[in-house]
Amino acid sequence: MRVLIVGGGGREHALAWGVSRSPGCDALFCAPGNAGTALLLRETGLGGNLPVGAEDVPGVVAAARAQAIDFVVVGPEAPLAAGMADALCAAGVLAFGPSRAAAEIESSKWFAKRTMREAGVPHAAGESFADPAAAHAFIVETFPDGGPVPVIKADGLAAGKGVIVPASMAEAHAAVDDLLGGRFGAASATVVVEERLTGMEASAMALVDGETVLPLPLSCDYKRALDGDRGPNTGGMGVYSPPGFLGSDAWSALLDSIHRPVARRLRETGRPYRGLLYGGLMVDDAGAARVIEFNCRFGDPEVQVLLPQLRSDLLALLLACAEGRLESARPEWSGEAAVGVVLASGGYPGAYETGHRITGLDAVDPGVLVFHAGTALDAAGEVVTGGGRVLIVVGLGPDLATARERAYANASRIEFEGRHYRTDIAAREL
Ligand code: AMP
Ligand code: GLY
Repeated sequence: MRVLIVGGGGREHALAWGVSRSPGCDALFCAPGNAGTALLLRETGLGGNLPVGAEDVPGVVAAARAQAIDFVVVGPEAPLAAGMADALCAAGVLAFGPSRAAAEIESSKWFAKRTMREAGVPHAAGESFADPAAAHAFIVETFPDGGPVPVIKADGLAAGKGVIVPASMAEAHAAVDDLLGGRFGAASATVVVEERLTGMEASAMALVDGETVLPLPLSCDYKRALDGDRGPNTGGMGVYSPPGFLGSDAWSALLDSIHRPVARRLRETGRPYRGLLYGGLMVDDAGAARVIEFNCRFGDPEVQVLLPQLRSDLLALLLACAEGRLESARPEWSGEAAVGVVLASGGYPGAYETGHRITGLDAVDPGVLVFHAGTALDAAGEVVTGGGRVLIVVGLGPDLATARERAYANASRIEFEGRHYRTDIAAREL
C-alpha cells in the first residue's frame, strides 16, 4: 500500500515512523514533512517529502493522484476543517481524518458545546456571542466580581492562540472586545464565554470509525513555556503517559460518558465521525472529568509518546478506522510509561532564530526516540533548526521515573544554539 502523510510537525514524524514499520507499507511520502521524515524516508527507501503545503487541499489531492497513493493520513486540524478528507474522498482516495462537517467539533467551539449539551456530556458550560454588548452583559450577570473569571475563546481556529484565560474581570471584558474587534478575522467573529474549570488536565484520545470508539492510552501535555507552568502558552513543551491520577477503569467510564455519546450525536445529526477524537479533559479533586475542548486529530506532542507504546501494526489500525472496521481491531499496547521532552528554539513561543546546526542526534541511546518538529536539512545535508519546537526526545520504561530519566539523559546530549527545555516534565507524578 502507498501512503501519504499530510503535515510537517512532530506528530507527522511520529506517524511516519509508525507507518514505516508496518509490513503493509510499500511506499510512504510526507507533505511537506521535515528533516526527520526526509531522513526516515531516505533510510527506509520508502519515498520522500513532497513540496506541498499541509493546507493546500488541491495540491494534496493532485500529489495523491501523481504518486498513486492508496491512503492519506491527515495530521493537522486546518486541512480537515478546510475539507481535505471530503476532497480526497471525492477523488476516490481513502483518507484518515474526519469530514469538514465532523471536524467542526474542533473548528467551532460553539458547535462542540452545543453537541455536548445535546448529548448530555459533562463540559465547561458557556454561551456564544457575536455582539460585544451582549457578551459583556452575560459576563456581568453570570460571573460575580470576586468569583472565578470566565475563559474567553474565539469560536473558530486561531492557530492555538484563540483561547484567553484572563487574570481579572477587566481582562475578560478586554478579551471580548479584542476578539470581536477582528483579532482573528472570521475565526473570532463569534466568541464563547465559558466557566473556568480547575484541576488536572488530561488528553483523552480515541479512534472513532463512525460507530465504534476505540481508546488509546491517556496522556498529559504541558502547554506553558517554563518550569512550574509559568510563562506563555506554547504548542506543547512536553508530555507523559499514563497519568497516575486517572486509571484505566476511569478511562472506560469516560468513554461511555463522553466519547461514545458525542460520536452517537454526530452520527445522528448526519455528521458521522471517522478519525481521531481528542477530548481535552479537566479532572477535579474528586476524579470527576469535564471536557474543555475537542480536537479532530492526534494531539501533538501526545501522539509522540503513544505510538512508541503500540506493539501492533499502526497502518492496519488507521486503515481499520478509515474503513469502518474498528469493531474487530485489537491493538496491542506495551503497557510501558513514556515521557517526551520538547527541545525548543531560544525565544519560543516569541520570536526565535532558525538555521542553527543540531548536534548530538547520533549520541542517543538505543530505545530512545527523537522525533523532529521544526527542522530542515541545509545545503550540506546537515540537520538545522527550522521552527519554534525543534525536537521531542521520548524515553520509555517500566515506570514514569525510568522513562523520565531516559528522556532527560538523552535530551541533554542534543544541542543547538539557544536550545531550551522544561526540566519538570512528569515530575509531579514521582
Ligand atoms: P488551547 O490548547 O490553546 O486551546 O489552550 C487551551 C488551554 O486553556 C487548556 O489546555 C487549558 O489549560 C486552558 N483552558 C481552556 N478552557 C478552559 C476552561 N474552561 N477552564 C480552565 N482552563 C481552560
Ligand atoms: N497538545 C495539544 C494539542 O494537540 O492540541
